[in-house]
Amino acid sequence: MKNILITGGAGFIGSHLVRHMVHKYPDYQIINLDLLTYAGNLENLKDIENLPNYTFVKADICDEAAIESVFTRFDINGVIHLAAESHVDRSITDPMSFVRTNVIGTVNLLNTAKKHWAGRDDVRFYHVSTDEVYGSLHDGGFFVETTPYDPQSPYSASKASSDHFVRAYGNTYKFPFVMSNCSNNYGPYQFPEKLLPLFIANIVKEKPLPVYGQGINVRDWLWVEDHAKAIDLIFHQGKEGETYNIGGNNEWRNIDLIHLLCKVMDKKLGRETGSAAKLITYVTDRAGHDMRYAIDASKLTNELGWEPSLQFEEGLEKTVDWYLANAEWIARVQSGAYQNYYLQQYGERY
Ligand code: NAD
Ligand code: DAU
Repeated sequence: MKNILITGGAGFIGSHLVRHMVHKYPDYQIINLDLLTYAGNLENLKDIENLPNYTFVKADICDEAAIESVFTRFDINGVIHLAAESHVDRSITDPMSFVRTNVIGTVNLLNTAKKHWAGRDDVRFYHVSTDEVYGSLHDGGFFVETTPYDPQSPYSASKASSDHFVRAYGNTYKFPFVMSNCSNNYGPYQFPEKLLPLFIANIVKEKPLPVYGQGINVRDWLWVEDHAKAIDLIFHQGKEGETYNIGGNNEWRNIDLIHLLCKVMDKKLGRETGSAAKLITYVTDRAGHDMRYAIDASKLTNELGWEPSLQFEEGLEKTVDWYLANAEWIARVQSGAYQNYYLQQYGERY
């Protein structure tokens, strides 16, 4: 694999993956294709932008001509596809953008790759997906790779649809793919509309922490660099046509996680214990809020030897340290589209 197209490489997970790949594989050409929506930011990749094996292309995955031109120009023989609309709350107010990017964009990539890869056996398409396609767990148990799909939000419905298209291309055209479904990632460079970076930013400014519903929903949290390493492993060693679940084996009720975060923040900011927790504000629940996600990642561990590397408490401290040291990054990404979006949708609460 020499010329790898990573889509969505300016986003949260994509930027960690691009950094990992350009450093680990100096012989590969890594082409990062990203539309730079509100969630994509080239600042995330400043440290590697001048490396000889890295190229950035600003383009829309839905743009047939642009994708065609990238495949021709760089002789792409591997794709790792992350570009997506990724925020559940936004999918509730604007589902069509999710259909466009997540479904149509994915099928456009599949079509271009299929056309360019006819007759080649040195090619692979990796589709990065989410555990949310499996729906919501209520009574214990874990998502395994054979759990039936049961998406509950417009976001997860769009991701499920794209997953189905990838598998359908594998079945119908013998298109060479691998796929993974991962739990909630955390770490540096996450856009501050997702739980952890939003709450860190709000605690610094002593703004309310909007906990949806009763805060009893459960998520499984994974250090983002561990996700990047899992993708690398599956891309190179995963069996063709297979799906792998990726998770942190690290379930938290939102409210427990938020209390832990508050404690860490008080300590780091030198504030009195209990200061941050006073900002907790229970707000109207997310519509159709999935109760619990939990991943069984034993297939990935048993077949490819992957395990999460970081304990959550250590990862959370590292995450908090990064956001505190990069307050300007938060201010910049929060200043534009982000703020306007939330002010429009939700009023002054944010
Ligand atoms: P993100 O929102 O931080 O980044 C998405 C990136 O895609 C951005 O850089 C954005 O500019 C780009 N993009 C959006 N629309 C595009 C288009 N039409 N053309 C080209 N680029 C476009 O998302 P993330 O959290 O890094 O997630 C990346 C992928 O991983 C997504 O496919 C998501 O579904 C999946 N995933 C995320 C998580 C998580 O916890 N964040 C967990 C499992 C799976
Ligand atoms: O499970 C993987 C998914 O994790 C990814 O596919 C998504 O792209 C990613 O955004 C994430 O989805 P969530 O909806 O779980 O993440 P979010 O950070 O938005 O919310 C985490 C939990 O916290 C969820 O139960 C909703 C709750 N929440 C979130 C926000 C932003 C709040 O209580 N208040 C908030 O303000």
